[in-house]
Amino acid sequence: MTGGDENRDSELVREWFDAIGAVVMGRMMYDTGEEFWGDNPTFRTPVFVLTNRPRPTLVKEGATTFTFVTDGVHSAPEQAKAAAGDGNVDIGGGASTVRQYLAAGLVDELQLHVVPALLGDGLRLFEGPGAGPRGLRQLRVVETPSATHLKYRFEK
Ligand SMILES: NC(=O)c1ccc[n+]([C@@H]2O[C@H](COP(=O)([O-])OP(=O)(O)OC[C@H]3O[C@@H](n4cnc5c(N)ncnc54)[C@H](OP(=O)(O)O)[C@@H]3O)[C@@H](O)[C@H]2O)c1
Repeated sequence: MTGGDENRDSELVREWFDAIGAVVMGRMMYDTGEEFWGDNPTFRTPVFVLTNRPRPTLVKEGATTFTFVTDGVHSAPEQAKAAAGDGNVDIGGGASTVRQYLAAGLVDELQLHVVPALLGDGLRLFEGPGAGPRGLRQLRVVETPSATHLKYRFEK
């Protein structure tokens, strides 16, 4: 996309995107993003969409592909790992998808970007049955006027 500001926030977002080799997302995130992302989505990697509704793979401009995965929560990251090369597999969201991977113990790192706004509504990221308590090591905290960027690694 054009426009926007160059600052510490954009550096952190670029660092995060540059490290991604493949993305896993839920069908609700896909459905709400589909029109907005257009013909040349910003992912520029293979994207694996968890869904109960099969659909043929979509090949977009700029190396983004959307593969619709209907054979369960473990299959999508396995396919994503195979496609990601040396890059990270990014669990992009939404909340329901992130919760399932947290509960399955399949998340190595957690990045939270806390913005100074109270929405008063929305989806909870941390709720529902989990895999029990797990320790987190804090890797980084970056404060900017726009957000507090938190990065954690799950302890083995
Ligand atoms: N701003 C951002 O960067 C960002 C990022 C992520 C999400 N979001 C927002 O978050 C909202 C979506 O979050 P969400 O928690 O409602 O939904 P979600 O996690 O994106 O998607 C949930 C849907 O994915 C499919 N799914 C999930 N797990 C599955 C499984 N194990 N097997 C098969 N299908 C599975 C189901 O769709 P079907 O049964 O319909 O196939 C389910 O209804 C959207 O409004 C989106 O815009 C925003």
